[in-house]
Amino acid sequence: MNIMEIQNITKTYKQKNKGGITVLNGVSLHISKGEMIAIMGPSGSGKTTFLNIISGIDRAEVGTVIFNGREFMDMNKSEMALLRRRRWAWFFRTLT
Ligand SMILES: Nc1ncnc2c1ncn2[C@@H]1O[C@H](COP(=O)(O)OP(=O)(O)O)[C@@H](O)[C@H]1O
Ligand SMILES: [Mg+2]
Repeated sequence: MNIMEIQNITKTYKQKNKGGITVLNGVSLHISKGEMIAIMGPSGSGKTTFLNIISGIDRAEVGTVIFNGREFMDMNKSEMALLRRRRWAWFFRTLT
């Protein structure tokens, strides 16, 4: 069973007096329950942006994120707040 279905995520940051910068361009990923994945890439490649979007902190302008069968776009602000409070955690660890 997929706990997360991420489809066609596109994120562009607006820049003052310049064109936007597209950081994620059509990213799709399925994550099964219990699966462990690593998102790797150089600094500035969009890892934090991606994590912010799949944890409901930020929104993509294109694409869908489905968590546990529910699409983020269909959830209201308080449902999203509950999701962030009860279902998601970030922690940091070293690799040594
Ligand atoms: N809030 C923001 N506004 C504008 N540009 C941003 C913002 N956050 C990140 N960026 C730009 O998006 C790109 C990806 O950043 P980020 O997601 O932090 O990458 P990573 O976590 O892989 O280092 C970088 O070019 C960064 O400068
Ligand atoms: Mg980062």
